[in-house]
Amino acid sequence: MLLLFLDNAIKNKSKIMGFGHREYKVKDPRAIILQKLAEDLFIRFGADEMYEVAKSLEAEAIPRLGPKGIFPNVDFYSGLVYRKLGIPRDLFTPIFAISRVAGWLAHWREQLGANRIFRPSQIYTGASPRDWTSLENRE
Ligand SMILES: CC(C)(COP(=O)(O)OP(=O)(O)OC[C@H]1O[C@@H](n2cnc3c(N)ncnc32)[C@H](O)[C@@H]1OP(=O)(O)O)[C@@H](O)C(=O)NCCC(=O)NCCS
Repeated sequence: MLLLFLDNAIKNKSKIMGFGHREYKVKDPRAIILQKLAEDLFIRFGADEMYEVAKSLEAEAIPRLGPKGIFPNVDFYSGLVYRKLGIPRDLFTPIFAISRVAGWLAHWREQLGANRIFRPSQIYTGASPRDWTSLENRE
């Protein structure tokens, strides 16, 4: 089942979530830290069968995607940590984003300053200005 999913995804060139990074062409060093954190969490609060699935997926994906420079990124294991913490799945993406806003803005400032080592390129094409409801007025 797992191999079928993996081989189909690779054949169809669909992206496997949690794999690939613009800079890291090895296993993301942050994923190694997150994986250890996940293991500590499972020891303290009980195992998660999805962790076994994730490890099998990683083991099978590395020989197939590793030669293309595609390895697990930090969020391959962070989703499992959030799941164990009881955070609803539809909040995972906002949490991934919130933790990165400071870094994204720092990159954006560097880019505005024409810093030559800046990467990746970042051009906002969304709506502007955006409407928002202040916390006290939200239901
Ligand atoms: C990692 C990345 C920045 C590298 O870009 P790049 O150097 O231009 O390389 P490519 O996009 O051509 O990818 C190289 C190969 O790896 C494959 N690949 C890349 N990311 C993959 C993923 N997440 N799952 C499966 N295959 C992937 C590509 O299909 C491509 O295969 P091919 O050589 O058979 O055409 C880019 O591939 C990317 O953004 N990948 C998706 C990352 C992602 O969204 N991950 C899931 C969310 S966490």
